[in-house]
Amino acid sequence: MEDFLPIKEIDHVEFYVGNAKQAAQYYRTAFGFTMTAYSGLETAARDRASYVLEQGKIRLVFSTALGPDHPISRHVHLHGDGVAVIALAVPDAGSAFMESTSRGATATIPPTTVEDNDGAFHFSAIKAYGDTILKFVDRSAYQGPFAPGYEKRLVEGSTTKNGSHPGFGLAHIDHIVGNVELGAMNRWVAFFANTMGFSQLAHFDDQDISTEYSALMSKVMQDGTGKVKFPINEPAEGKRKSQIQEYLDYYQGPGVQHLALSTGDIIGTVTRLRDSGVEFLYVPDTYYEELESRVGKLNEPVEMLAELGILVDQDEEGYLLQIFTKPVEDRPTLFYEIIERHGSRGFGKGNFKALFESIEREQALRGNL
Ligand code: FE2
Repeated sequence: MEDFLPIKEIDHVEFYVGNAKQAAQYYRTAFGFTMTAYSGLETAARDRASYVLEQGKIRLVFSTALGPDHPISRHVHLHGDGVAVIALAVPDAGSAFMESTSRGATATIPPTTVEDNDGAFHFSAIKAYGDTILKFVDRSAYQGPFAPGYEKRLVEGSTTKNGSHPGFGLAHIDHIVGNVELGAMNRWVAFFANTMGFSQLAHFDDQDISTEYSALMSKVMQDGTGKVKFPINEPAEGKRKSQIQEYLDYYQGPGVQHLALSTGDIIGTVTRLRDSGVEFLYVPDTYYEELESRVGKLNEPVEMLAELGILVDQDEEGYLLQIFTKPVEDRPTLFYEIIERHGSRGFGKGNFKALFESIEREQALRGNL
């Protein structure tokens, strides 16, 4: 079947934050990103400042409004720091907009072209869950840094090799997970299927992922090429408050729960993240007892995995290594997953119980379980 909305890759993810200058510094020092472009008062932007950070093929943008009566300020006031825009690189931003809106997607930015001396930058956007928007970007006719209005801004001392930004070894965005309200998961699954042409890759119900207390349900949607994966979670009934409900309460509605960033060397990457102050969820030592008898022989030494708290899961196709950070802001909302795949295309189902028990320990510490 022909893909009516072809996607090349995830172009970037934009966060609306209270202080973009400081957020950019955090992602540089704690996560190993390099600042590559900037837009603000010095580049003739009057109402906002934005910092573009890159590592491997990952591109994150942090934006702050310069006054109170601004959509970015209102987003931050309601949600705290969080993901506002998921931008997808497409061959034709006008066609992506027409194809998705004609199938029921809600328009937020009609097809737009901005030109400067570096060429023409095409984009459009539709509404996704909560206040999150899905932006379609076509930068094929644009040679400038990031987008019109931005200046190249490489910070002294950044890890840059031959124009690339290896940083701590984070390579690309593996998947982006959204949390939606109880009963809304299937509506968003249908949205991605019907308006974007995505298909369902996997689903997990409360049998797979309930612990003693909390539960959730999840379905994974992916685009035609399988390069873009968007799992959607909703809370399920449990004895206590679902971790998804805790997110919804503090984010004041649906939004992005975590970004999974891939690496080819999870031990090296996590060691550097830890040394730089990134906090990860705690995994009990018992998890590592007889690990290789559960998941088979691993290339990585189990002692190293145990020392860093890295989880392992395996399926018919291979295995994966993964670890989860604690929330990266004061509200218990957005966090990160670091993942290294060895054949497995799964999401760590075998780790759900250990992982969610660990999350519940943190929820209990916050008084929210
Ligand atoms: Fe994940």
